[in-house]
Amino acid sequence: MSADEAAKLIPSGVNVGMSGFTGAGYPKAIPVALAKHIKSVHDQGKPFRISVWTGASTAPELDGVLAEVDGIEMRLPYQSDPVCRQKINSGQMHYMDIHLSHVAQFAWFGFFGKLDIAVIEVAGILEDGRLIPAASVGNNKTWIDQADKVIIEVNHKLSEKLEGMHDIYYGTALPPNRKPIMMTEPDQRIGEPYLRCPLDKIIAIVETNETDRVNKFTEPDETSKRIAKHILDFFSKEVAEGRLPKNLLPLQSGVGNIANAVMAGLNEGEFENLKSYTEVIQDGMLGMIKSGKLVSASATSLSLSPDGLKELNDNIDFYRERIILRTQEISNHPEIVRRLGIIAINGMIEADIYGNVNSTHIMGSSIMNGIGGSGDFARNGYMSFFVTPSTAKNGAISAIVPMVSHVDHTEHDVQIIVTEQGLADLRGLSPRQRAICIIENCAHPDYKAALLDYFDRANNSGRPVHTPHILSEALSWHERYEKTGHM
Ligand code: COA
Repeated sequence: MSADEAAKLIPSGVNVGMSGFTGAGYPKAIPVALAKHIKSVHDQGKPFRISVWTGASTAPELDGVLAEVDGIEMRLPYQSDPVCRQKINSGQMHYMDIHLSHVAQFAWFGFFGKLDIAVIEVAGILEDGRLIPAASVGNNKTWIDQADKVIIEVNHKLSEKLEGMHDIYYGTALPPNRKPIMMTEPDQRIGEPYLRCPLDKIIAIVETNETDRVNKFTEPDETSKRIAKHILDFFSKEVAEGRLPKNLLPLQSGVGNIANAVMAGLNEGEFENLKSYTEVIQDGMLGMIKSGKLVSASATSLSLSPDGLKELNDNIDFYRERIILRTQEISNHPEIVRRLGIIAINGMIEADIYGNVNSTHIMGSSIMNGIGGSGDFARNGYMSFFVTPSTAKNGAISAIVPMVSHVDHTEHDVQIIVTEQGLADLRGLSPRQRAICIIENCAHPDYKAALLDYFDRANNSGRPVHTPHILSEALSWHERYEKTGHM
């Protein structure tokens, strides 16, 4: 049926599980049609809102259009859309920002309430009803299993040859019946290539023909290249000291400029036979697979620019042998992340001098995107890096502060902090040792003296000094920024 007809099958007040992870695999037509429908209902003076659950971030055609018409009551578990962000921060929309590995089990536990409808993009449908997943898997298996009704979008733009790239694991269970997940290699297949969907759940099938909206891949800037170099030098040192094998350990890397720079650096560097076990495969990783540096990549989403997509489609048989797309409960699973010994590299907004990290909030109160999978990998991995330029907003903000204005990753989960200034290896250090290490290696020269001064005065304040603080001053840098526009 048409997207307009299908959208009218979604009533106000329901929970809708949609496909989509980092701008890939989201439904292209129904959210747009639904937004139009919601607006017409609002124009008649009647309320209409739904709750939207996804894999992670989607695109303006989903989050943007629904937020624009004030159609979302509750959004989870991750978003990065500017309109959504504005609605959340102005209090017009609720947002539950949770670890991506927790989403499927929370849905099964019933912590979110009942899932009414799933809207899932696929690459195709087999005659027996099994579904060929699209460019991301995310929570699609859980949404289809949990929802009363399912709407399918079949996107003809996707290569049919994606068939066979996915690995959908149907073995997860609830406590006390959980069994070990028998994966010991990052490129091991443990499931089946298709999503199962009982035919009697399907209430609509809509055909589309559109590509995912992923921005063009930009070349890494100078700051990102410097951060990448610190990380690569550190890897060499760790290999020399016997703490990492020559081909490192499976890599997880967040998205964005710095992640791309690290991938570009690895592509030109000395390490061979690398593997990745991550959430998102971007153009950078595709390049490494092509060059042979990366022998396999496991993720839950293929988030490729138009150029990257062309490269994939032109050589799909080659990439299908080397790429595995899994459900996000498996790509981010703490058990597997711990067993494989993942090297986790994620971006942050700010860190404090003791190593607590804020990945999500600007000045304590305003959400940026969300925690995503960073906590899944940082807490459970073998090594956890957090990276950022040392300043933001043309130097007006220091990324290293006395106390973070919001905590996503505590000092216990953060091992290595990197800015373009340098790298702070916090492993084995006490809070006071960490403070010196972070300030000396990572702070921008403009802020170093002030940070050392804060630390010295806190250390000599007469209060306990396990983690020295002057409480009345700890957040004064943020307050000063809000008052004067400069920290
Ligand atoms: N204070 C205020 N604003 C800050 C800031 C700080 N300390 N640090 C960064 N910002 C602002 C930047 O100025 C920029 O603002 P703009 O959009 O108005 O230009 C914005 O935050 C993004 O910063 P940028 O330097 O472009 O970083 P990024 O694109 O690498 O994103 C995070 C950094 C932390 C927002 C991003 O990595 C994120 O959302 N992380 C959490 C999720 C995650 O880790 N996922 C990984 C698993 S895939």
